[in-house]
This record gives sequence, structure tokens and C-alpha cells, in this order.
Amino acid sequence: MRIACYGVRPLERSYFEKLNKYDYDLKLIPEYLNRENVTQAKDCDAVLVRGNCLCDRTNLQQFKDYGISWVFTRSVGVDHFDLEAAKDLGISVARVPNYSPYAVANLAFTLGLTLSRHVGEAAHHVHEQDFGMHPDYFATEFNRLKVGIYGAGKIGAVEGKMWKGLGAEVYAYDPYPSDFAKQYCTFVSEEDLLATCDIVSVHVPYFPGKNDKLINADFIGKMKEGAVLVNTARGELADEAAIAAAVSSNHLSGYGADVISSEKKIMGHNFDCESDVPDQEVQSLMDLYPRVLLTPHMGSFTEPALEDMISLSFNNFHNMATAGAVDARNEVVAA
Ligand code: COI
Repeated sequence: MRIACYGVRPLERSYFEKLNKYDYDLKLIPEYLNRENVTQAKDCDAVLVRGNCLCDRTNLQQFKDYGISWVFTRSVGVDHFDLEAAKDLGISVARVPNYSPYAVANLAFTLGLTLSRHVGEAAHHVHEQDFGMHPDYFATEFNRLKVGIYGAGKIGAVEGKMWKGLGAEVYAYDPYPSDFAKQYCTFVSEEDLLATCDIVSVHVPYFPGKNDKLINADFIGKMKEGAVLVNTARGELADEAAIAAAVSSNHLSGYGADVISSEKKIMGHNFDCESDVPDQEVQSLMDLYPRVLLTPHMGSFTEPALEDMISLSFNNFHNMATAGAVDARNEVVAA
């Protein structure tokens, strides 16, 4: 089977080769899937994408015209797919919901720690040769923090476990509390979590048209004065103008995010400080550095997660080819 694999960074090539246990004929394409490079799948039997690939109706139709019915993703999220179109076209979509949850949890935790201890601001001033002790650096200690995990799936629960290990009081809001998460988090209502926590870390999936800009002025208004907000889930969940306003007014003491709302235009590019980035709301957040720390959607960029994403995706193709279906937990659209 020949598989077109989109968005394979140079560093990832050797992992695709090393983990190719079913001996697939892999076409490794460095760019994310877009309107132009969809044609590269013409000689392939199946497609493997990642987040930020353009899996809209037009591109899925193009794959179907090439005779391709399996378009799988190595991400947890499937918000880059037009799932309605996949269903209409008889294209199966599978994902990898169970790659190492520590990858994203580690980053969310790091952003929360860094912001609450004001490391970004202090390091920034020192870099500018200012070794003064700014009153803004005054902090509490991690074992005194109340941390709120907003969405306690695997990733959120692991972040909760990490905070618990530091002695913090860990709360979670999730309509479906898992037994694993209950070991580390006390489940409370959304209102209580927002009102009491010093750090709120968001880990909910993005459902286009359903929870856009969930983190808006109203959400932030319910948060404790001076809290830190962390978003390693999806940029579309965030009303970035409202967040920038809340950091500017000090209602939030910091915002840490691995995701932005306009990723397709920005992620993967180096703008070299020649001008503002092509999204004013993202630029407004960047202008609040170092109280706003943004990273380039690198939560899953760890060796264990990368290995899982590739290897579990290959399992999805193998199960589809041999048993006619992927593991039910990984199935998103069954053709
Ligand atoms: C996901 O798995 O959903 C991610 O956000 C990581 C990514 C490869 C886009």
C-alpha cells in the first residue's frame, strides 16, 4: 500500500522509516496538505495527515477522484476535517486519540509554572541587563496553588497528576469524570473552578460551530482576579481579543498558549520580525510578551508522542486493510 504522508518534518522522516513495520510504500511530503499539493497523492492508495492539514470537501473530493477512501490523521483532534464531506464521499477517517498524553500535559504544566513564577518577565528583564527585583515577581509557591483542569480527558488528567505531585490543590471540570482523573482532581462545577483557581488549563476538544471562542470575556470574567490561563488545546476556543484585554487590564496575570486561532496562516512560518504577523489579534497577544507566552503548537513534539502517532497510525491502516475496520476508539467516520 502506498501512503501519502503530509506534514512530515525533516526530523520525523527517520521515525517514519524506522517504524514502518508493515512495510508500506511511504511518500513523505514535508508540507501540510493544502490546495496545491493535494495532487501529490495521485499515485497513492491512502493518505495520512496531521493537524492543520486542509481536509475540506474540495481536497477530500480530489482524493476520492484518485480512488482514495482512507484519509487518516495522526492527531487527536479532527477539527481540520470536513467530516460531513468525508461521510458523503464514503471516505473513512481515523485518528490517534491515545498518543502519549504527557507530551501536551508537560507543556501546559510548564507554561503554568513559568507564568505563575514570573520567569518569563524576570528572564526578559535580565536579558536587557536589568537585574532589579521587580515587585511583579512576587509569587506564591506551587504547593499553595489551586489549579483548575478545564476538560479532564487523558491529557488534562495527566496535567492534574503532575500538579498533584507538586502538592497543589487540583480541581477539574468535566461532564464525564474518569476514574483515572478522579485520583488526582476534585471535580467541581465550571463556575467554582473558574472562581477559585489560580491557574486554569484548558484541554477541551474544538467542535467547529459549537464551542468557538468558548474562552471569551464572560468566561474570563468568571475567573479569579490575577489568575493565569493556559490553552494547549485549540486556538479557535479562544477569543484572543478578550484575552489580550484581560491581560492588559491585569485581570489575568498571564496567558500561555501553544495554539492560536489562525494557525494555517502562521504556524510553520518564520516572519523574521519584518512586519506584524498576518493576524492582528495574534499580534496583540504577542505584543504582551512576556506576560503572554506563545509557542508554535509544539505540545505533541516529543519523541514518545511522535513514535506513538506514527506507529498507531500504521496500526490503523493495517487494521483497516486486514479486518476492514480500525479500532472503534480511533474511528471517526466509517465509510
Ligand atoms: C492533536 O493531536 O490534536 C494536536 O494538536 C497535535 C497536532 C499534531 C496537531
